[in-house]
Amino acid sequence: MSCRRRCGRLAGFVGAVPQRLTFVDNATAGANAVLRSLRWRAGERIVIADHAYPGVKNAVRFVAERFGLELVEARVPWPLPGPEALVEAFAATLAGGARLAIVDHVFAPLAVVSPIEEIVRLCRARGVPVLVDGAHAPGMLPLELDALAEQGMDWYVGNCHKWLCAPKGCGFLYATPAGQRDLHPTVVSNFYGEGYEQEFAWPGTHDPSARLAVTAALEFIEALDVDCYQSELVGQARAAADIVADAWRVAPGAPLGMYAAMVTLPLPVEEAGTEEAARRWRKRLLDEHRIEVPLFAVNGRLWLRFSAQVYNDLSDYEALARVFG
Ligand SMILES: Cc1ncc(COP(=O)(O)O)c(C=O)c1O
Repeated sequence: MSCRRRCGRLAGFVGAVPQRLTFVDNATAGANAVLRSLRWRAGERIVIADHAYPGVKNAVRFVAERFGLELVEARVPWPLPGPEALVEAFAATLAGGARLAIVDHVFAPLAVVSPIEEIVRLCRARGVPVLVDGAHAPGMLPLELDALAEQGMDWYVGNCHKWLCAPKGCGFLYATPAGQRDLHPTVVSNFYGEGYEQEFAWPGTHDPSARLAVTAALEFIEALDVDCYQSELVGQARAAADIVADAWRVAPGAPLGMYAAMVTLPLPVEEAGTEEAARRWRKRLLDEHRIEVPLFAVNGRLWLRFSAQVYNDLSDYEALARVFG
């Protein structure tokens, strides 16, 4: 199957015309391509949430330092009272104008799902181009990227190696026709100047096996039934949140309706949230309880983020609940 047809298969899955989609190695590579292609002018502003993914934020810092730009953080309260608080955080920051806004579709590590359409519409109303970082979204959430572009989104990056179950090293970049103009991969190679499809299809000699496996990954998810797969993840995550939050007598970081397949809960320990404490507790859960789960320090507190998947069942979360239950 040709690269174009494989991309076309994925494009159908994410609600995009094939001409707007290209494979990249991962979401970080896609975000870098956008950030490093734009022709920046000193003093321009880039808006990104304070809790945005650190790798993407570093790419913003890189261009900001290089071109004399201003990195402006939308301050997202945590714990988060509701989706409107996220919209307000962006609205307050966008009021000062920006050359680019980067919006996380599913925040990591917070795990909450953004009211993405509302934020994209807000950006369009302010005349600000938008890159959506959807690293976690494909497979976890239904996606209609062309429809989102209609509302004002210019670029979207996503991973196939998370909730789509493809092998590591496969993501995609979506770009509208205007967003494709002057857009180049970070690794410029043989087909420079020959257009979006050609340039991104050949990032130099590479191992395409993860991209080749995307079709099989899509067939796997479709065999489970995409709607059933997604609602099973959400249902399991919420049931698990109830079990663990009850046992630990804690509340999730945001209303349960803001989560999809991942949930964040505060660790019920009297200990300041530091990176060191997060690493130590993560190791302790693994060594002493055989539980592998990410832990993060957010706003001075330790937070645990668990995920649901079809190979888990509630007994997995009951085991987690018993650690402090
Ligand atoms: C919001 C977000 N952006 C970007 C990334 C980076 O993904 P990758 O390392 O596959 O580029 C992640 C990874 O979890 C993420 O959650």
